[in-house]
Amino acid sequence: KGGFHKEPNDVHYSFEGPLGKYDNQQLQRGFQVYKEVCSACHSMRLVAFRDLEGIGFSKPEVKAIAKNWATETPSINPDTGEPATRKSLPSDFIPGPYANETAARAANNNALPPDMSLLAKAREGGPAYIESIVTGYEDVPAELKKKFPDFTVPTGLHFNPYFANLNIAMPPPLAADGQVTYSDGTVATKKQMATDVSAFLMWAAEPKLNQRHSLGLVVLGYLVIATLLAFGAYRNIWHGKK
Ligand code: HEM
Repeated sequence: KGGFHKEPNDVHYSFEGPLGKYDNQQLQRGFQVYKEVCSACHSMRLVAFRDLEGIGFSKPEVKAIAKNWATETPSINPDTGEPATRKSLPSDFIPGPYANETAARAANNNALPPDMSLLAKAREGGPAYIESIVTGYEDVPAELKKKFPDFTVPTGLHFNPYFANLNIAMPPPLAADGQVTYSDGTVATKKQMATDVSAFLMWAAEPKLNQRHSLGLVVLGYLVIATLLAFGAYRNIWHGKK
């Protein structure tokens, strides 16, 4: 209380509540944001291209998506000394942007962009935390400057009250409305892109949420019927007894 760290925004998602379900249109938009923006720095190494069938892409669409990402092969390109690459297949995992952690840190002011496969489950606040981080950059509040006159944002870091230590190494990734162009006609405001990509990351971390919610409903129905039967049996057994 009284600190400058902020809790995640109250974002509304279609998959909230015991009966909520993912919205495939939204997840596909979110994948587009991941592909066109976040994947420049963040890997998603536990998700294979064919998993994207789970958000409504057809097999040919998945094949076409995979073709545009290069997967490293075990052989070395004799001209460059680097691993040779080939077009990705649906069975490949989505390749990350950096060869290893050293390369990732070298490109990011020594910070490490975390792998995004499980990020929505790994942080308190889940997808709303991710949404809040990417929309939450602001100027250092006057109140903070007043309370801590020595507070400065170190070079290369950015003030973000939703990040635990207030200064984050990631530059604002969603800098302008319309940064991506959605094919379904949805207007790509910063907020919309943030909600879509965080919903997509929630799917990546918990792809079976829809099934879990459906099964929960079946289980509850089963329990209701079983209770009625048990009550009927109880009445039947004790019928006419004092
Ligand atoms: C960290 C999301 C794009 C570089 C983070 C964190 C989130 C996030 C939620 C905090 C992770 C944590 O709690 O540990 C996103 C999303 C993106 C995106 C949704 C796309 C819309 C980018 C891009 C870059 C980048 C394009 C590189 C230019 C980093 C770095 C960190 C980070 C270096 C670590 C920050 C630190 O430890 O201070 N990102 N990111 N991100 N991101 Fe991104």
